[in-house]
Amino acid sequence: MSLALARKYRPNLFEDLIGQESISQTLSLALDSKRLSHAYLFSGLRGSGKTSTARIFAKALLCENGETSTPCNKCANCLMANENRHMDIVEMDAASNRGIDDIKELIEHTKYRPSSGRYKIFIIDEVHMLTTQAHNALLKTLEEPPSFVKFILATTDPLKIPATILSRTQHFRFKKIPEKMIFNHLEHILNLENIEYEKEALEIIARTGAGSLRDSLTLLDQAIVYSKNFVDVSTITHMLGIIEPSHLKNLISSILLKDHDSVFDFITLASEYETEMILDELSLYIKDLMFAQDKILSPLIIERFFRVIAGSKELLKMGSDGTFVLSLTFFKMMESLEIRDIDTLIKNLEKELHTLPTTSVPLQTSATEQPASAIVATNAVQTIPSISKNETANTTNYHKIFEQLVQKIYDRDYMLGSCFDRTTTFNRFEDGILYWHSSANEEDKDRLRAGFGVIKKLANEIFGSNIQIKNLPIEPGKTQEKKTQEEQSASDEINNTEPLSIQECQTGSMIEEIEMSSSSCMMPEAVNEAGKEKDPSSLLEEPMVKEAIELFNPSKVRVIQKV
Ligand SMILES: Nc1ncnc2c1ncn2[C@@H]1O[C@H](COP(=O)(O)OP(=O)(O)O)[C@@H](O)[C@H]1O
Ligand SMILES: [Mg+2]
Ligand SMILES: [Zn+2]
Repeated sequence: MSLALARKYRPNLFEDLIGQESISQTLSLALDSKRLSHAYLFSGLRGSGKTSTARIFAKALLCENGETSTPCNKCANCLMANENRHMDIVEMDAASNRGIDDIKELIEHTKYRPSSGRYKIFIIDEVHMLTTQAHNALLKTLEEPPSFVKFILATTDPLKIPATILSRTQHFRFKKIPEKMIFNHLEHILNLENIEYEKEALEIIARTGAGSLRDSLTLLDQAIVYSKNFVDVSTITHMLGIIEPSHLKNLISSILLKDHDSVFDFITLASEYETEMILDELSLYIKDLMFAQDKILSPLIIERFFRVIAGSKELLKMGSDGTFVLSLTFFKMMESLEIRDIDTLIKNLEKELHTLPTTSVPLQTSATEQPASAIVATNAVQTIPSISKNETANTTNYHKIFEQLVQKIYDRDYMLGSCFDRTTTFNRFEDGILYWHSSANEEDKDRLRAGFGVIKKLANEIFGSNIQIKNLPIEPGKTQEKKTQEEQSASDEINNTEPLSIQECQTGSMIEEIEMSSSSCMMPEAVNEAGKEKDPSSLLEEPMVKEAIELFNPSKVRVIQKV
């Protein structure tokens, strides 16, 4: 490529300027109404059009058609201005000519009349770079220049301009150019240049340009060379050292599916990149998801993800290891999916309050029902029946609550939910014990065993934290549904009588009966064996437990194995 795109496509007229409409309008109006100031200051981001505007403005002042917002681009003055060789337009770069002598020379120039134009125009770029003396030397002329002199000062750093200069100029602030406009401009240029491209690649360039059209065009130049005339995403991401958006898309899916293996794959891939860049790109990607058509993330989750990422950036600032921070970020993101919003929590709580009889009995009350030294020990999660026996169980309600349980298991793990749903039928909920039937085959049992922790936790959330679960085998010759319905209709009568299972429960190895009965499909065999090895009541004799009983005089003792 012979000429850099930024130079080749330098705007030639006010109407060519992108994203600076208010500035070009004001300057056009000033030209057309001939209300001209003698000094202008253009400030703003590099590559936002300050120099281009200064040149258009200078040309517009000199055009043979008179000061006009639409210079003809045909007259000698316009042509010379376009070729950057007009004698009456003097450009000075204050970054390389900062001293008092440079300014003195320039002031000398202002004394001579223009050679062919109407005005003598001085464009001083990066004016904030001038030394203090140079600034002071300029002040006088700036205040009262000869009538044929115009100054256009440009700077990227207006805060460094002395107030004395600011007050003598008309100040125009150039804005960052919006991404969308940069994108359209890049697209326009590539079409003119007959170069193929992927839209997403241009989006990345426009974003990376961060409001500077020159930077974006320079990147585009580089990309054209790098990609051998096909500007595609993978070349751009490679060139810029950023991660491809498709990887981020996969990452978000893996996080939503809690697919740990894929997340680890991403972490391995990410080790080739800067961690901070990954976090930034991820933030941008999530931000895009928020505005996307198919809302795969709720605003609540997006907010949580952003918090997690913000926290991770803090960790990075403290010098934490990149891979560690990334791993932590992704696992925290997975965890943040778990937390339900407050409204749901309140709703669930209300539902529980309305549908459930009291699920926990104060210590004093249960003390009257149970011997003070009742001890229950198990090496698995264990509970004590806490619903008073003569409370009427509302079977239909419990059946509905059970359906909620099934739904929750589905929500947590679809496969587990479907296995549970298919094999398990509600029987009744009575005296703090949840009875169900299971028709699980060996394969189902394996799955249910593996997921029992989850099922139990959810059952606790729904039925109360003190419940027990009793698995009933299916009676031969009866289908699950039949049996359930019969048992349900009979449950009211059963209320006052002691069902067989409850009697079993009152024996010493209650928990084994309830949670570890060999008919249970839920408990892992290993736990089962271990449970049988230990006689829970012998724990009472342990000196430490004895001492604790003396000290606390408890009405119940519960020994839970540390996991
Ligand atoms: N507002 C704009 N409209 C169109 N092109 C622009 C604009 N700003 C910058 N450019 C492109 O970037 C190049 C450099 O712009 P320039 O005016 O020199 O920026 P600045 O002086 O603000 O650093 C131009 O030649 C042009 O290709
Ligand atoms: Mg410039
Ligand atoms: Zn002209």
